[in-house]
Amino acid sequence: MAESDDPGGVETIWLNARLATLASGATGLGTIDNGALIARDARIVFAGPQDAIPADRRARARVVDCERRWITPGLIDCHTHLVYGGDRAREFEMRLAGATYEEIARSGGGILSSVRATREASEEDLIRSALRRLDALIAEGVTTIEIKSGYGLDVEAERKSLRVVRRLAEIRPVAVRATLLAAHALPPEFADDRAAYVETLAERMIPALAAEGLVDAVDAFCERIAFTPAEVARVFDAARRLGLPVKLHADQLSNGGGGALAAKFGALSADHLEYTDEAGVAAMASAGVAAVLLPAAYYVLRETHAPPVALLRKYRVPMAVATDSNPGTSPMTSLLLALNMAATLFGLTVDECLAGATRNAARALGLEADIGTLEAGKWADLAIWDIEQPAELVYRLGFNALHARVWRGQ
Ligand code: NIG
Ligand code: FE
Repeated sequence: MAESDDPGGVETIWLNARLATLASGATGLGTIDNGALIARDARIVFAGPQDAIPADRRARARVVDCERRWITPGLIDCHTHLVYGGDRAREFEMRLAGATYEEIARSGGGILSSVRATREASEEDLIRSALRRLDALIAEGVTTIEIKSGYGLDVEAERKSLRVVRRLAEIRPVAVRATLLAAHALPPEFADDRAAYVETLAERMIPALAAEGLVDAVDAFCERIAFTPAEVARVFDAARRLGLPVKLHADQLSNGGGGALAAKFGALSADHLEYTDEAGVAAMASAGVAAVLLPAAYYVLRETHAPPVALLRKYRVPMAVATDSNPGTSPMTSLLLALNMAATLFGLTVDECLAGATRNAARALGLEADIGTLEAGKWADLAIWDIEQPAELVYRLGFNALHARVWRGQ
């Protein structure tokens, strides 16, 4: 909440606001009742009590009267698979008729059906369909989003997907992190040679796409229907050699030691975690790995084994919450609904939910120095809400209380 010295430059002041700063040192949401926020050059230079702002400074600034609305940090959706061809509505019907996600995946449906549709789609098709989903998230106050590839599974289709991810950031006022998830499923052309796919991925795909500037992080799906810990280790070694951070889809359907594997590689986050045990959580805590909870996938799969929230609290692992927006297990485009599900299905408190979509989501992306809280020095990414209390953001279902969204001060 310190103020920078130079009052020059054009400033915008949001006055008459209630702030949920989510500042790390603060208790709860870091609430400031009669608050104001000042941005200059797209960065926050002040977030604190408005009576600390001298009248002459107000007179020089562009002033926005918030009329007692709440300001939170812009929301961060730190785990999505937003770019893909087609949809999986037919598989949804199959699951309604009794088929399981794993049965559908093993019979060539699931991720591989999205791979076929994504390979066939043009870059323009992928941009068009992803934009509709991105716009729904932006309309709810999302200012940063992570998007994974993983429906291409060969170098051309992964490149196409990641190029689309980069294009989305040019088309819309939102920050986008691109994660390479080529270790999502075994592509059909390697069905009889798993080792060769992992080798290609590690030796050719990751280095080539990283060299093209298309990759901010590398993810893998560690699961009995996907990749083994040893295969993931091969992929992560390759990523680390290139200096790329890693993330892991861990223990979603079974306990495969994913939490500990993520810890061993110093991953930014381990995601899902439904079946992670105490040893996994303890390992994550000592390696500083964030937990990303994805309650919509849990809901869609009618999973009954919830992630170990009590252990995550006990070991003080930062918990983020994300949509996991994807065509199979989470065809949803509402981060607010994900927060409601995290509270109702996983027992998170309102404060934990809101930290999960802001400060801890920034942490899961390695962006905590720049976003996630309302503090001087961070990007001026704000969500301004028509609510009387922050709990409303978590409590309502299918209701968007966003009044205005500010990205980089605009
Ligand atoms: O995060 N777990 C693996 N990947 C996605 C699901 C992908 C799909 O079914 O298309 C997930 O749930
Ligand atoms: Fe996912």
